[in-house]
Amino acid sequence: MVKEATLNGVQWVVPDPKRENWYWPSEALKVHAWASDAKIYAQAAADPIAFWSQQADQLTWSKQWTKAYEDEPFAYRWFVGGKLNLSYNSLDRHVAAGKGGKTALIWEPEPVDEPSRIFTYQELLAEVSRFANALKALGVRKGDRVGIYLPMIPEAVIAMQAVVRIGAVHTVVFSAFSPESLRDRLLDCGAKVLITADGYYRRGKKIPLKQQADQALTGTSVEKVVVVRRAGNEIPMQKGRDVWYHESVAGQSTHFPPEEMDAEDLSFILYTSGTTGKPKGVMHTTGGYAVQVYATSKLDFNLHEDDIHFCTADVGWITGHSYINYGPLMNGVATLVYEGTPDAPDFGRMWQIIAKHKVTVYYTAPTAIRMHVKWGEEWPAKHDLSSLRVLGTVGEPINEEAWHWYFEHIGGKRCPIIDTWWQTETGATCVQALPGIGPFIPTVAGRPFPGIRAKIVDAGGVPVKTGDGGYLVMEPPFPPALLRGLYGDSEKFRATYFGEFGPRLYFTKDGARMDEMGNIRITGRVDDVMNVAGHRLATAEVEDALAQHPLVTEVAVVSKPDEVKGEVPVAFVLLKKGVHPSEDLKKDLIKTVDQHIGPTARPAAIYFTEDVPKTRSGKIMRRILKALVRNEPIGDLTTLRNPECVEDLQKAVGYKA
Ligand code: WT7
Repeated sequence: MVKEATLNGVQWVVPDPKRENWYWPSEALKVHAWASDAKIYAQAAADPIAFWSQQADQLTWSKQWTKAYEDEPFAYRWFVGGKLNLSYNSLDRHVAAGKGGKTALIWEPEPVDEPSRIFTYQELLAEVSRFANALKALGVRKGDRVGIYLPMIPEAVIAMQAVVRIGAVHTVVFSAFSPESLRDRLLDCGAKVLITADGYYRRGKKIPLKQQADQALTGTSVEKVVVVRRAGNEIPMQKGRDVWYHESVAGQSTHFPPEEMDAEDLSFILYTSGTTGKPKGVMHTTGGYAVQVYATSKLDFNLHEDDIHFCTADVGWITGHSYINYGPLMNGVATLVYEGTPDAPDFGRMWQIIAKHKVTVYYTAPTAIRMHVKWGEEWPAKHDLSSLRVLGTVGEPINEEAWHWYFEHIGGKRCPIIDTWWQTETGATCVQALPGIGPFIPTVAGRPFPGIRAKIVDAGGVPVKTGDGGYLVMEPPFPPALLRGLYGDSEKFRATYFGEFGPRLYFTKDGARMDEMGNIRITGRVDDVMNVAGHRLATAEVEDALAQHPLVTEVAVVSKPDEVKGEVPVAFVLLKKGVHPSEDLKKDLIKTVDQHIGPTARPAAIYFTEDVPKTRSGKIMRRILKALVRNEPIGDLTTLRNPECVEDLQKAVGYKA
């Protein structure tokens, strides 16, 4: 089936002669693909449990499961009775198969004059084992929660792997999140240990991190802090609590027997935004998560042994968990981790990295692509991108212009674009085209992955007609990697995902439509969740942050489309009596947002107003504010308690519709 790992320069996609904007895999790509026959969909649909079991058979289990799937309302289990370890499946099994000398991880630091760090599978296994021993010496045991607040350095992957090797539970917090965000998460999960770094490089500057972590720790249950030395900046170390990473692993054995985990044991918690101000701790298991992440990495990106996989997400997001760390490593390929930003030292950095390491799979977000479109195609043109085979996107619907630019200027009109729809909750991709099957259509994600049952329903849960818009839901057997709960809040879990349609339909909160072939186009969130530069954010989180400013009485935040970031928050702020609006106050409010959430949540505009539209019961009508900032028809105002405020608001935002 597979002749060679890379086919540089070969035409991998061909345009559809009849349908404009449709593309299909070429014969050359089909020969090379794991899946090249659309029959896989029908076969998997006939028996999804058998399909997933075949995928699971490709991993190493220390004990075979007794039942592949079972469910009862709000509780579904995969590979019941099976035992495995995620780190064993990522590392040991490749070494055992004689592939210890293969490259596992390539790290590219931001400063261009600093050398890359490269780990073979053997070396990565040794380092992970040393750190697992160090964590054990610090008291970490199976089931304990370990916080990870690290920049994009190899130790981020090593730390995650070491934690799951012990059978402990990691919770990774994005390094650009504020101390307060970190504290909330550490408190919620009751973390015992935190792994962080002194600092890191961003656009040539050293960014301190340890001081941020210190601020977050007061009042938490964290007993020990492990600090990776990265930037070499001066940092305070607290005696008895803080240890350097390099000192903790010194003299530790390179052998650490992986903990045998039950398929349904918790492997990690990742916090994400819901519609309230408080992020939710999404819980992922071991077996089902491993299987779906393994199978989707392999089939979505057509991964073969010699691939160099470069996913540009941060490890703090689910994409980093599944497609920088576990997915590529379970597939035995090389995963590339880049520390910095795409504009350091110039706008060609990503393309320079691809050329330097002969990257074959590049996986990024539409917001990043739109940024590159702005910077211009002369930047990728300076670099040899002929090693690329497959391109991926994730995080939000990709607009046509960005798709075509990506297709032409990065993929050389040669590579398929795999638009993967999924969520923190699903743990792994669920809707996408497969490289060897197609079709690849701009703005259309693709078909549900084999074995996944997705459909589009109306508000009553009834399937809509082909082509009509509706809500995207999933039916049992639920995808193996689907979240099993929200940490410490089973009520919220039920209400959030099964509240609308009951326990037999998982509600994604996305609007979508489906064509006759089953291709799904995602139209966006239908709840109060924004997607800002690929970062998920609730309007309520930004409102809560702003409301904490001492001069603010009330806030309403809505999202507004943005050419590059997809969406941005816009805030309407009511000030306390006698307080005068000013530019300085705006700056101060932005600072408040930085402090409580982080810079990603900064409002693009702040309007000081006397009032915001409200219903008679006092609920803010965000729908009207949304229409105002988008220049869309405002609609009916008769249910408002204060319709007179709308005119002032129109002036304030420069409403033109
Ligand atoms: C929401 C989930 C999954 C990793 C990144 C985001 C939107 C995600 C796509 C896509 C259109 C997409 C959805 C989803 N989304 N991928 N390919 N096309 N929309 O994870 O932060 O949990 O956000 O991102 O609205 O519900 P997340």
